[in-house]
Amino acid sequence: MDMTKKETLAEYSSNAEFGFYVFHEDVFRQNIRNMKEAFSSRYKNFQLAYSFKTNYLKRICEICAEEGVMAEVVSPQELRYAKELGFRPGEIIYNGIIPDTAMKLLVSRKGYVNIDNLSEYTRIANLARNTGNRIRIGVRVNLDVGQTYASRFGMSRDGSDFRPVMNDIADNPDISLAGFHCHIGSCRQLPYWKRKAEEMAELALEYGAEYLDMGGGMFGPMPDELASQFSGYVGSYEEYAEAVAGTMKKYFPDETVKLILEPGTALVGNTMDVYARVENVKTISDQMFITVNCNSGQLGMICDCRDIPVEVMKTWQSKKENGWAAKDAIIAGNTCLEFDYIKKGFSGTVRQGDTMIFRNVGAYSISSSRQFIVPRLAVYDYETLKILRAPESYEDMMKKYLQ
Ligand SMILES: Cc1ncc(COP(=O)(O)O)c(C=O)c1O
Repeated sequence: MDMTKKETLAEYSSNAEFGFYVFHEDVFRQNIRNMKEAFSSRYKNFQLAYSFKTNYLKRICEICAEEGVMAEVVSPQELRYAKELGFRPGEIIYNGIIPDTAMKLLVSRKGYVNIDNLSEYTRIANLARNTGNRIRIGVRVNLDVGQTYASRFGMSRDGSDFRPVMNDIADNPDISLAGFHCHIGSCRQLPYWKRKAEEMAELALEYGAEYLDMGGGMFGPMPDELASQFSGYVGSYEEYAEAVAGTMKKYFPDETVKLILEPGTALVGNTMDVYARVENVKTISDQMFITVNCNSGQLGMICDCRDIPVEVMKTWQSKKENGWAAKDAIIAGNTCLEFDYIKKGFSGTVRQGDTMIFRNVGAYSISSSRQFIVPRLAVYDYETLKILRAPESYEDMMKKYLQ
């Protein structure tokens, strides 16, 4: 009997030293197309960028290039990577806090660079004066859209840096204002987005702008069991588009100002699973612990705060034998950290050797996992079952310590 892809991957998992990620290319492509359609049907002057840091698997970045999605980067390493993958300066947005590298993009006069503060601005103004290049910059603004905390990024109208920067741009023959940028983390609810769009549009009316880059930070498609765990309503692409592109259309009916978005999570969150093997099941007092061969740091932020969806695939052996009846069990990771918990409250039947599939782990998982006592995991392609990124080895982890 032919094995399904899931069964084949479960078999890989039963033989692998560590768990691994599985990437669903079709889901990622569809997310991009759905988001583009939702926004550009309401506002044609729209450009999508993808936040590399959320998951910079090569295949993901290549698909972005194929689908006409720009690269949004925040560090010199990411910038170099984007260039190596073939993104041209005009297809890269740099929101870094490392001005030297940003400047190289600026000098080419094609890249989008959004500056965060007066010090960056001053260095750029000096560069423009010394090189005689007229430089176009974007200004990252810090907005209060009703969120529960004060962001440290960008410049606020009532802060120390905004006025001096805007006044100097107005007087400086070497610098021109290309646009405004704003990204506010942990601020995914629709009302925040509507307010951000309005505030940004007001800025463009007041100062003029070729583009408004609204950053990232939207929810993406997810199963109901996950959506119900977020406080507040989880918006769809259509609803975000109505809030943001709809607002842009009201302010700029002739669509003269370009709308840019740079989501990561909303595009990539539901495109990856982790397959991990159950290594051990035990009880301590009345609490059952199930330990698997990956850890919470490898599954991303979703694991820190949410009860992530999991499916158990039985091994051949455990189909024949009875598993443990788990009730309110804790699924724990393969590190020595006491609270390396992947999920609490798991109920089902499970046995050593079974495979657990954790869903919706595409965002801030592989790119932000630590190399603490175990190497980072491999990535497989769901369609071809080929490796997209090899697992890290002992040498990757330890070689530099031996030098
Ligand atoms: C400047 C900037 N843009 C975009 C993003 C992407 O955010 P998300 O993955 O929540 O969509 C981030 C995330 O931190 C960011 O800092």
